[in-house]
Parts: sequence; structure tokens; C-alpha cells
Amino acid sequence: MTIATPRVWVLNGPNLNLLGQREPHIYGYESLQNIEQNLIQHGQTMGLNVQCFQSNHEGQFIDHIHRATAEDVRYFIINAGAYTHTSIAIRDALVGVKVPYLEVHLSNIYAREAFRHHSHLSANAQAVVCGMGSAGYFYALDFIKKNLA
Ligand code: DQA
Repeated sequence: MTIATPRVWVLNGPNLNLLGQREPHIYGYESLQNIEQNLIQHGQTMGLNVQCFQSNHEGQFIDHIHRATAEDVRYFIINAGAYTHTSIAIRDALVGVKVPYLEVHLSNIYAREAFRHHSHLSANAQAVVCGMGSAGYFYALDFIKKNLA
């Protein structure tokens, strides 16, 4: 019997496709494509099947989250961008599919504008990483590997 490689989905929300160009003093100079490629490679070295998704549309983001059950996804790493602070619908989708998740933000949302201080996703996240730039995604992946071991 072969044991399937655990599948981890990295979900990025609105405007994260602009990483590298968008407010680089806050979000860094690395593109999302580069981060995603490195996450996939890092996952391979640890025996994790990392698959990445980005959308600027709340409904598409939710539809994708719903697909996780059929796809046997073991974990999400999610940066919902500004939807973090506004979307009860994404919060409900995450709770609905019952896939454990880690919330990641490149910037330290608590050191920024007051409207970024509340996250609708944090209360149900297994952990939250913020303010570590793109390294936060990799720490999250390492944590998942340890947790699945
Ligand atoms: C972000 C922080 C959010 O407040 C912002 O809307 C983003 C990116 C981050 O990664 O730091 O789009 O999630």
C-alpha cells in the first residue's frame, strides 16, 4: 500500500498577485510566483504536496476552499489579504470544511492601521504568523510537517 503524500494548499487572497511591485517597503520585493515555486520545492524536500492558489475574488476563493474536502487536503496556509479583516464568508467556509489552517501575513498587521488589527480568521486558526515577510509561509510549512509527523 502506498501512503499518499499529504496535500497542503497555500491560499493567497486579493492583491497578493502584485507582490514584488505592491508597496515593497511593506511586503517585500519577491514575487508571489517566486514564493510559490520555493514553497512547492520546500514541500517536496519534506514529503509534502504543496499546491498554490491565488484569487482576487471572494466567491472564487470560497469555491476553492470548498473543493478541499474532495481533494483530501490536510492543511491550508492562508493569507486572505484584506478579506482577513472583512470576510465572515471566508471564515465560515474555513470552519465549514474543517481543514486545519495557519494564517499568514507578510506584514505585522498589529503594527499597522487599526482596521487591520482584527482578523475574522484568527480565532479558528491553529496558529498565526505575521510580520516575518515571505519567511512566514515557510515557517508555517515547517510547522505543518512537524504536526503531520
Ligand atoms: C496582508 C495584510 C493585509 O492587511 C493586507 O490587506 C494584505 C496583505 C499581509 O500579508 O501582510 O493584502 O495580509
